[in-house]
Amino acid sequence: MAEDLYISNGTKEERYAALLPQLKGLLSGETDEVANLANVAAALKETFGFFWVGFYRVVGDELVLGPFQGPVACTRIRKGRGVCGTAWQEARTLVVPDVDAFPGHIACSSLSRSEIVVPLLDGAGEVWGVLDIDSSEFNTFDDVDARFLEEACRLLARNV
Ligand code: SME
Repeated sequence: MAEDLYISNGTKEERYAALLPQLKGLLSGETDEVANLANVAAALKETFGFFWVGFYRVVGDELVLGPFQGPVACTRIRKGRGVCGTAWQEARTLVVPDVDAFPGHIACSSLSRSEIVVPLLDGAGEVWGVLDIDSSEFNTFDDVDARFLEEACRLLARNV
């Protein structure tokens, strides 16, 4: 049974630093992928209050909506489309300070202003999903978010 989440009231770095070991604890001993994605989405939403936090998984030639926290969202995204599909295609983290300036951005919500997408990699380095976080403010995400969220996503690595 999970304990309540401890949320640091310090800087962004301090919040992430407090969150990561708790994520490790939440994920340890649980092998069900959906359960783990759901808890990571919830912990990020609870810690930072982001507008939308969630996962898309690669299913065939599309990303399909997985566990998330926030308003209802687009269910399927093609490879190379939008921020998520581009992060999948390029297998790298994308930080988007202004979604309207990103060519092909998919607006699941008109309230989203900035976004970060981090790929989930398996043991062979293949993308099996993405973490997508949307903010209702411009310029929310930077290298600090990228670094810590990449570390969080490594905790979800599939062993292929
Ligand atoms: N904006 C994303 C689509 C997913 S939603 O924001 C939840 C994109 O352009 O890929």
